[in-house]
Amino acid sequence: MFEKTLLNKERVLITGGGTGLGKAMAVRFAELGANLILCGRRKEPLEETAAEIQKKTSSQVDIFSCDVRSPEQISQMLDQAFAKGPVTGLVNNAAGNFVSRTEDLSSRAVDAVLNIVLHGTAYMTLDCGKRWIAAGQKASVLSIVTTYAWTGSSYVVPSAMAKAGVLAMTRSLAVEWGKKGIRFNAIAPGPFPTPGAWERLIPNGDIAQTILNKNPLGRAGEHIELANLASFLMSSFTGFINGEVVTIDGGEWLKGAGEFNFLESLTNQDWEAMKTRGK
Ligand code: HXC
Ligand code: NAP
Repeated sequence: MFEKTLLNKERVLITGGGTGLGKAMAVRFAELGANLILCGRRKEPLEETAAEIQKKTSSQVDIFSCDVRSPEQISQMLDQAFAKGPVTGLVNNAAGNFVSRTEDLSSRAVDAVLNIVLHGTAYMTLDCGKRWIAAGQKASVLSIVTTYAWTGSSYVVPSAMAKAGVLAMTRSLAVEWGKKGIRFNAIAPGPFPTPGAWERLIPNGDIAQTILNKNPLGRAGEHIELANLASFLMSSFTGFINGEVVTIDGGEWLKGAGEFNFLESLTNQDWEAMKTRGK
């Protein structure tokens, strides 16, 4: 569907770009011609991902061990990245999460998630934004949130709070920095199995199956589906989309919301009986 040159004017920074969905986006952006800057705390997954990309594309991939909780580390990374050339886009993908009863959380556990997802995203966005504004440069920011950013969710409360904050940042800055040529959008994925998310959030196979069963499409998302959506949103084809959140969840959250959706458990016999009710 996409021209191989779709992103060939882009140089995109992806936080958490060495693993999972960040890696899937990195690989796809590179296939579509983008140069990349990938960061995360651990060097090894970044090196592996960069090597994999460089084996099959001519994309330039710069990797940085950078903790998004540290404004100093971000600033040092961006000094080097921007010195090499313009950065045209940022994907706020790095996250931390785990399932827990909320009454079991310590204050440090709350901070562990909020510091990565909310503060890390804010620090990275602010530092990039100041550089773009000073240079009068156009740019695009895409943040990976979740559908529970607006529904909320039990057992992942710090993550829900943080993702809601990232969505608020997206909508706020879409307006404030839109006039400076900086677009802000978000993707809200449903379940996309990755080692990072699954080992922390899906304690056993039965729960994994429940997640698939409750999806209207009866399956999880495929990484390439999210990577293609992200490519489209980072491309100039969506230059007039600003402040939007695009859900990619097979209809999962709507199924939980619709008043009568639970009636899918009725049998044909029940439906036949329904026809005569109230007559
Ligand atoms: C309760 C927990 C806990 C758990 C950690 N803590 N895990 N409390 N239940 N399962 C508490 C610790 O006891 C400690 O508090 C505090 O949190 C900090 O723990 P650390 O291990 O020191 O934290 P840190 O090294 O900063 O690691 C951050 C992390 C870790 C978030 C805890 O999981 C991480 O690095 N995650 C990065 C990758 C990740 O999470 N990927 C999944 C994203 S998936 P005390 O008080 O004991 O000191 C995602 C998907 C959403 O977001 C939607 C899916 C459908
Ligand atoms: P993942 O592989 O665990 O990705 C998280 C990434 O963030 C890792 O590469 C990790 O690398 C990096 N990271 C964590 N803390 C960091 C920090 N302090 N500084 C810099 N980098 C940090 O999980 P994923 O499933 O691909 O998740 C990617 C994004 O999708 C997240 O925003 C997540 O909330 C979102 N999401 C995922 C799903 C899903 O079903 N998978 C659903 C909805 C939303 P290091 O550990 O090396 O730092």
